[in-house]
Amino acid sequence: MKQKSVLVFDTPDALALGAARMVIETAERAIQDRGKFTVALSGGSTPALMYQHLVKMPSDFSKWIVFVSDERWVPEEDSVSNMGAAVRLFLREAQVPAVNIMHAYVSGLDANSGAVKYEELLHKHAGSPAAGNDVHLDLVLLGVGDDGHTASLFPGKPALKETSRLVVATPHGTLPPPVERITFTFPTINSARKVAILASGENKSTVVASALEGGSSAEAQPVQMVNPLGGSLLWMLDKAAASKMTL
Ligand code: 6PG
Repeated sequence: MKQKSVLVFDTPDALALGAARMVIETAERAIQDRGKFTVALSGGSTPALMYQHLVKMPSDFSKWIVFVSDERWVPEEDSVSNMGAAVRLFLREAQVPAVNIMHAYVSGLDANSGAVKYEELLHKHAGSPAAGNDVHLDLVLLGVGDDGHTASLFPGKPALKETSRLVVATPHGTLPPPVERITFTFPTINSARKVAILASGENKSTVVASALEGGSSAEAQPVQMVNPLGGSLLWMLDKAAASKMTL
């Protein structure tokens, strides 16, 4: 890993604003360096506040290519769809071109076939043919659950051990809603140029402290397996989520 840092913000809204600024700065650099910005948005409730800030910030949104790091296997009109929320709260208003929005859910496909298709999209839009078509996203955004899961990589599940597939289907683990999901695997996450994990709220404080300061195995707490080999890792926390850290 090139760099690991932890930023703590006073409030959930300050965290959301800080995260939005980080995303925009990362986008500007990627567009300057490579002419496009490949980003995977995370699911759950924490990104919603960030979208409210992002949508007001300037960027060349025509150069963004947007994935989700995991998705609940439901149509995007469903209120629990991660990409559905991103489109409604951010991408539509920011006018990210529809062709640059990489929808995971495909009606009529099962989650396994959907995972294979999403992997193809990753190769097509974020692969480097010159480097054996390795996929290196500019930014992968993640959340963390109070059980230590990240994306839809749940404790003790086979998806944690995946070494070749970039996206797999997985059951929902302990996290509601009880629908099947697809998820980036660690090979995808850990080959990103930058990974940012956002955590907000007191209910995340135990998992954050043990992930950052030790105290639990990686198998029990999958978020510990986030380790972007050639990239950087940034934890962005609000005070409540950081409250059990001792350092
Ligand atoms: C999802 C994500 C999940 C999420 C964390 C944090 O729910 O789709 O898979 O990994 O990012 O559970 O969620 P909150 O932001 O709601 O706490």
